[in-house]
Amino acid sequence: MLKTAICDLFNIEHPIIQGGMAHVGTAELVSAVSNAGGLGIIGTGFYEPDWVRQQIQLTRQQTNNPFGINIQLASPYVKQVAEVVLKEQVAIVTTGAGNPEPYMPGFKQKGIKVMPVVNNVDLARRLEKAGADAIIAEGMESGGHIGEITTIVLLPQVVDSVRIPVVAAGGIGDGRGLAAALALGAQGIQMGTRFVCSTECIAHPNYKKSILGATSSSTVVTRQILGFPQRSLKNKLTDQFQELEKAGASREELELFDRGRMYLGLVEGDIEDGSLLAGQISGLINEIKPVRVIIEDTVAEAERIIASLNKYCKED
Ligand SMILES: Cc1cc2nc3c(=O)[nH]c(=O)nc-3n(C[C@H](O)[C@H](O)[C@H](O)COP(=O)(O)O)c2cc1C
Repeated sequence: MLKTAICDLFNIEHPIIQGGMAHVGTAELVSAVSNAGGLGIIGTGFYEPDWVRQQIQLTRQQTNNPFGINIQLASPYVKQVAEVVLKEQVAIVTTGAGNPEPYMPGFKQKGIKVMPVVNNVDLARRLEKAGADAIIAEGMESGGHIGEITTIVLLPQVVDSVRIPVVAAGGIGDGRGLAAALALGAQGIQMGTRFVCSTECIAHPNYKKSILGATSSSTVVTRQILGFPQRSLKNKLTDQFQELEKAGASREELELFDRGRMYLGLVEGDIEDGSLLAGQISGLINEIKPVRVIIEDTVAEAERIIASLNKYCKED
C-alpha cells in the first residue's frame, strides 16, 4: 500500500486530497472522499458563516473520517469563516487565493493543521516559517484561481525549499499523475477537476458533461485584470470577458459583469453564460465515476507504475 508522510499527518489511508472547490466542494463530495480514505475538503468560497457551519455539521453526519475546510482568503467573510472553523474545531485547514499568515497563530493555538495553497517558492518558505504543517504547490494547469508556474516546474522547487511535506496540485487526473508527483518529491496529490466529474459531486450535469467533452486546449485564463487570473472552459462568457478586457473595461464593469457567473455555471448548469472552472486535465477526463473508484483506480495505477519503473534500471 502506498503510504506517505501526508497519510500520517492527516491520519488518512491514501495520499489523495480533494481540492476545496467553491460551490461544488460540499458535504456530499467531502464525505464521499473521506469515507473512501482520501481527505475531503469543504470549499467555502464566498459563502456566509452560517452556510459554512451547516456544511461542517452535514459532513460530520456523513463521515467519521478526517476532513478539512478551505478558506478563500479573498472572501468578504474570511474573518467570520475563520471563527467558525475555530469554534467548530475543524482539524485541518487549507487556504486559497492569498497569504493566510494573519490567521495562522489562531489556528496553531487550537492545534489545527494548516496546509496553504501556494503558487510560488517564496510564499511556501514564508508559510513554513509561519507554522504551516504542509504546503500545496499548485501549478497553473489547475482549474480556478491560478499562478504563473506549471506544476512540473514549481513542485520540485518547493520541495527543495521547505522541510514540511508538499502536496502537488494542478493537472493531475489519474495514477500517472500521482506517480509523477511522488517522483518529483511530493508526499501526495490534490485533485479538483477530476473530483468534479464524480457521481457524488453536486456540480450540474451540464457542467460535468462539458468537462467530459473537453480537449487539452479547451480552457482559457481570464480575469487577469482583476488581479484574479482564473482558468475555466472556453465559452460565450469567456469570449465576452476577453472582449471587455481588450476594450479596456473598468474593474467595476468587469466585476459587475462577473457577478453570480460561477453559481450559474457550476450549479445551475448554464454552460454558455456561466463560469465553468476547470483545469487543463479536463482533456483526460472522459467518465463520471464514483469517488471510491476514482481514488482506488488512481492509487492502484500509481502503485503499478512505481513497481514497473525499475525496468529502466536493469544492468546490461
Ligand atoms: C470548480 C473549482 C472550484 C475551485 N475553488 C477553489 C477554492 O474555492 N479555493 C481554492 O483554494 N481552490 C479552488 N479550486 C482549486 C482546487 O482546489 C484544486 O487545487 C485544483 O482544481 C487542482 O487542479 P486540477 O483542477 O487540475 O485538479 C477550485 C477548482 C475548481 C475546478
